[in-house]
Amino acid sequence: MNEVIQSSAVNEVIQSSAVNKTRLLLVSGSTRHGSTNTAVLRTAAAVAPPGTHSELFDGLAELPAFNPDDDHEPLPAPVNELRRQIAEADVILFCTPEYAGALPGSFKNLLDWTVGGGEIYRKPVAWINASSVAAPTGGAGAHTSLATVLGYVGADVIEPACLRLPMSRDLVGTDGLVSEQGLREKLASAVRALLGHRPAESTATECTLSP
Ligand SMILES: Cc1cc2nc3c(=O)[nH]c(=O)nc-3n(C[C@H](O)[C@H](O)[C@H](O)COP(=O)(O)O)c2cc1C
Repeated sequence: MNEVIQSSAVNEVIQSSAVNKTRLLLVSGSTRHGSTNTAVLRTAAAVAPPGTHSELFDGLAELPAFNPDDDHEPLPAPVNELRRQIAEADVILFCTPEYAGALPGSFKNLLDWTVGGGEIYRKPVAWINASSVAAPTGGAGAHTSLATVLGYVGADVIEPACLRLPMSRDLVGTDGLVSEQGLREKLASAVRALLGHRPAESTATECTLSP
């Protein structure tokens, strides 16, 4: 099921024909209902330039525990779907919480499933750190781990698009989006920086989001 994201006022401000037709895959590291990190990614879709095709990967909790013995065709269906979405994406944006000083295990499991497929190799990616303003390290442990893994899979990390966004859960509105305008504008700027690195042959034309 796909959810169409309506253009917001911010969309109109940042509209640019140069970044209109890129497939943006959004990957949250949280399985939590009401996740702040997922809300940040939904907001990234909402503030992306009109015409961007934004898709949120929603199969994190369905992925089986990674087992190299199973890393062959036919792949488990959720793994197949993950690899398809990554392969079809022009750019990928990650947003993950920190658990116990590192990546959540379920998200590391997702990343482990990407190693054998090779779909992330040379793919432009960025991450947003949306940890609480009270977080002692600002989620640095999670992003150090993420940077290590992205290095292993050969992702092209677009540093100017990586963003630290200290925020509390109450900044997520009842619509599931980040409501604070300053944060939305920072997000829009990061998304624009990432979309600017899309492969030249990009042809996507829609702006939709999978819940
Ligand atoms: C088991 C567990 C461990 C956590 N460990 C850390 C941590 O090491 N550092 C940190 O900044 N926050 C830690 N947190 C807080 C989460 O990062 C925080 O609740 C975050 O908002 C969760 O993201 P979400 O709202 O997207 O699910 C931890 C939370 C849980 C449940």
